[in-house]
Amino acid sequence: MAAKNRKIVDVLNGKTVSPPPIWLMRQAGRYLPEYRATRAAAGSFLDLCYAPDLATEVTLQPIRRYGFDAAILFSDILVIPDALKRNVRFEEGHGPRMDPIDPDGIRALKGDGVAKHLQPVIEAVGRIRQALPEETALLGFCGAPWTVATYMIAGHGTPDQAPARLFAYREPEAFAYLLDVLAELSADYLVAQIDAGADAVQIFDSWAGVLGEKEFAEYAVRPVRRIIRSVKERRPQAKIIAFAKGAGLLLKSYRQETGADAIGLDWSVPLSFAAELQKEGPVQGNLDPMRVVAGGAALDEGIDAILQVLGNGPLIFNLGHGITPQADPENVTRLVARVRGENR
Ligand code: CP3
Repeated sequence: MAAKNRKIVDVLNGKTVSPPPIWLMRQAGRYLPEYRATRAAAGSFLDLCYAPDLATEVTLQPIRRYGFDAAILFSDILVIPDALKRNVRFEEGHGPRMDPIDPDGIRALKGDGVAKHLQPVIEAVGRIRQALPEETALLGFCGAPWTVATYMIAGHGTPDQAPARLFAYREPEAFAYLLDVLAELSADYLVAQIDAGADAVQIFDSWAGVLGEKEFAEYAVRPVRRIIRSVKERRPQAKIIAFAKGAGLLLKSYRQETGADAIGLDWSVPLSFAAELQKEGPVQGNLDPMRVVAGGAALDEGIDAILQVLGNGPLIFNLGHGITPQADPENVTRLVARVRGENR
């Protein structure tokens, strides 16, 4: 896949691009009125994820509005458990739900049929690539096995992922097997996204921050390394961003241990530490999404601090986690312009 002039790919190759390219996690989402309109017409959230024409449309919405340097495939990390027949549903006001899995259920998991189930998502990747401007990168993604497992075990989102942490201590073998299954399926899924036109992929380990040191090595690092190895063995040119939210000091060796090309940073990562991490390779982040809700000086100051400390090295400008539904779309216009030096 020719990736000429795609700035994010340049950064992932270790180059410093100035001003830095920008995209936002959850850039297609409920803060945009055009998203809410498409979503209302689609039926359920998963219907939207599995309708290639609608998924293409919502992926393109933030590109049309803001001209971000990358589009991210519109889907969800929980399509993998859905493909594993865990009966995933998104209930209004409740977030995701699915049938909680037990050790017998884990031993009975079968990966056949997963690729077929996810085919509409892969079709969307191809359509999005066709519709995007040449200079806009396309990012694919998957959830990291630990984060996906936290939902599969509890059957829903949990504040501190206690059910999965407890399960891992009580049922270490079943838990290790679950992570292995998820790692293998995720690697195949990412390869399919890359083959369909994704320039790079991001692995979201949104709940890595609740793990102790040993558990981080086993449940966060190890499966992500396995995914990255498997993808790169098959597609040596693949570029991979790994985002372990809340991992703090454990990020020190995360890039090297996982083999990721770039690491995502949440807003709790001090900029001085981020600068150290950037000496080893590209970083992505790390504006607090609440600064986008606040707008004004809070927004400007947060942007400027990041640009000042990280702007002279390989940086992909992003938030430290997803943009929230209450963000004002006008603040995103202001954010993009300021990062690009248009209103500083
Ligand atoms: O970034 C993007 O724009 C691409 C699309 C994307 C979505 N989810 C769309 C979505 C991506 C990359 C995700 C990843 C995802 N999904 C993660 C990891 C990243 C993160 O944010 O931590 C996680 C943990 C999930 C699981 C998930 N999906 C939850 C907890 C929820 C409900 C929370 C909420 O905001 O309602 C979802 C639903 C979801 N995924 C929505 C969107 C736009 C909102 C659903 C709706 O439109 O009703």
